[in-house]
Amino acid sequence: MNNCLISITDYSKEEILEVLKTAARFEECPNNHLLEGKVVASLFFEPSTRTRLSFETAISRMGGRIVGFADSSSTSTSKGESLKDTIKMVDNYCDLIVMRHPLEGAARFASEVASVPVINAGDGANQHPTQTMLDLYSIYKTQGRLDNLEIFMVGDLKYGRTVHSLLQAMSHFNPVFHFISPGELEMPATYKLFLDSLHIPYHEHRELDDVINSADILYMTRVQRERFADLLEYEKVKNVYVLHNSMLAGTKDNLRILHPLPRVNEINEDVDENKKAYYFDQARNGVYTRQAIIFKALNLTW
Ligand code: CP
Repeated sequence: MNNCLISITDYSKEEILEVLKTAARFEECPNNHLLEGKVVASLFFEPSTRTRLSFETAISRMGGRIVGFADSSSTSTSKGESLKDTIKMVDNYCDLIVMRHPLEGAARFASEVASVPVINAGDGANQHPTQTMLDLYSIYKTQGRLDNLEIFMVGDLKYGRTVHSLLQAMSHFNPVFHFISPGELEMPATYKLFLDSLHIPYHEHRELDDVINSADILYMTRVQRERFADLLEYEKVKNVYVLHNSMLAGTKDNLRILHPLPRVNEINEDVDENKKAYYFDQARNGVYTRQAIIFKALNLTW
């Protein structure tokens, strides 16, 4: 189905820039009637705070209506109904589906079953393209550009869908990447090969201290307990990187710290008051960028 957003690679560079421009327009004017008469299904098979609530805020501010669930245990999935049948049913009721699912590929599958556009709100360790759009919007707002930036990604780079999507999106803008992770959670080879194919430089580190002084963006991530089959492995790496305010002393003035959230221990609360901490503003940007993504998915006009 056209107009779906399943992977960030579904958007060209031009489309990314167009959506960012639209998001800026929504930031100026978030309350409107663009979705009057439209119903959006919000299907969350996996927990969420920001993605679900910012989508629902975006839809409400555009005058649309929402059906759906935040917990699939209250649906007929718990009686054994397949994802295919669930999507075919919901497709009867709405104009757009927003879906989060723990299985990689579930959103692509839903888009092949549905006749209405599907927006991927996160599928397992695979992709989180709407998060990427708000990350790009946040980077543009704080740096004044997307080109020629040094992007440091920290934490769970193996299972972190947000870093996978962001890496692909930033590849349009001549970045230098730095990956800081324990060996067990390195950026997967497929993404490194992707960068190699585009001659985009990246450097891998094991330590967080010192190396961050050249960063424009420090993208912290949570080690995700829910992605580990063996919890002993999780225990070994869960607190391996913790950012403290004192570690920011030698960093650049323009540095901004992003995090898709939720955080657990990886950013100490003493960072929150530092002007370089941007993660709560970043989450607010999710409303405007998701409004812009919906605008595009439904071919709306002003
Ligand atoms: N960033 C993000 O996806 O947060 P939630 O899991 O709370 O939606």
